[in-house]
Amino acid sequence: MSKALEGIRVVDMTHVQAGPVCTQMLAWLGADVIKVEPPGRGDVTRSQLRDIPDVDSLYFTMLNANKRSLTLDIKSEPGREILWQLLRRSDVLVENFGPGALDRQGFTWERLSEEAPRLIYASIKGFGPGEYENAKAYETIAQAMGGAMSTTGYEDGPPTSTGAQIGDSGSAVHLLAAILAALIQRQRTGRGQLVQVAMQHSVLNLCRVKLRDHQRLQRGPLAEYPNKEFGHSVPRSGNASGGGQPGWALRCHPGGANDFIYVIIQPHIWHRLLQKIGREDLIGDPRWETPEARIGHLDEVFALVESWTMQHSKWEAFRELNEIDVPCGPVLDTMDLVQDDSLRQSGMVVEVDHPERGPYVTVGCPLRLSDSPVEIQRAPLLGEHSEEVLREVLGLEDGELAKLQGQRVI
Ligand code: COA
Repeated sequence: MSKALEGIRVVDMTHVQAGPVCTQMLAWLGADVIKVEPPGRGDVTRSQLRDIPDVDSLYFTMLNANKRSLTLDIKSEPGREILWQLLRRSDVLVENFGPGALDRQGFTWERLSEEAPRLIYASIKGFGPGEYENAKAYETIAQAMGGAMSTTGYEDGPPTSTGAQIGDSGSAVHLLAAILAALIQRQRTGRGQLVQVAMQHSVLNLCRVKLRDHQRLQRGPLAEYPNKEFGHSVPRSGNASGGGQPGWALRCHPGGANDFIYVIIQPHIWHRLLQKIGREDLIGDPRWETPEARIGHLDEVFALVESWTMQHSKWEAFRELNEIDVPCGPVLDTMDLVQDDSLRQSGMVVEVDHPERGPYVTVGCPLRLSDSPVEIQRAPLLGEHSEEVLREVLGLEDGELAKLQGQRVI
């Protein structure tokens, strides 16, 4: 079966997490993603957080599936020339180096748009134009500067980073959307364009509701927050749902670190929930009856439900609450996730084989297209496809390849 992005060639000059996650999705959607890496060491993550000596790390292999790897020294003249040739024959260039890195090698947007007018040049940086534009950034810096850290955690604890990589992988998803839009626009205009996503902007976009609350706060306390006192900025609100319906993480049996279920209380299931937890006596009680009445003492409301959840495992509670249509979710730890049958069945947790590390588990593709099925393939070894790509795309022959190898350009 054909793939959505079949025929689209991507020069993938990404490293670490933010860029590779974006190009991995392009590859899953069927693009030919050629990862260009410095000869000898490749993407720095190949050797970071290694669990097996001298074998590409899971950090690398889980973020670079379905790609081809070409080693190319872009700090050498022949390397830069090959990259120019490759870019002239490609649809998209994606990079997330520190500010100015590709410019320093002569690959400025001005020159790229002249040499390869159909090319979409997609770039992730820490920050947008302005005071911080030359600063480097990592995941947690974006979380700190995009509003996530100040609003995550408990009021009496420090700002906290989230496990979800909203700075890196969040930026990757934003960049994917922008690249796909640029590809569609190119169908009409025939021109590529410069596509930029800043990590700080991506996190801020994901923290949109916190700026909603910031403005609400200027008119008075936020009733649905568990906090008793408010300053000028939106406080950390623990596990409050952040939405129009209150929610909280409730303890479950037997009380382990992740024996919790997150429960949302919708107004129309309140009576059913009271029946389920054996508190029919509260039905009709004005202190408990309406959302407006409950919002003033949500801590007591959730304590009531928790006295029931604590008698059940998180999975039992999940099943029983689902029977009466209560939106809820057990807190799954990483062991739960890798063992989850439904995630395996849906291809979200998959095992692939690797010539050096053997089988490993990776996270599959969350995008499901009926006409563009995804088959997760292992990440490439460093330079595994150098010759293949240079022959196929640039038509290089044995002698030229041997010369480039001799010069350590590839
Ligand atoms: N051949 C030769 N050199 C190469 C190369 C290749 N194929 N590919 C990259 N390089 C060089 C670049 O030219 C650059 O060299 P220079 O600094 O001498 O000009 C260097 O490798 C990469 O630089 P940089 O990206 O600044 O690396 P770093 O390790 O110092 O910084 C980050 C890492 C992540 C902080 C930085 O890349 C960054 O801020 N990126 C943008 C934001 C981002 O994506 N952050 C999240 C990453 S998950």
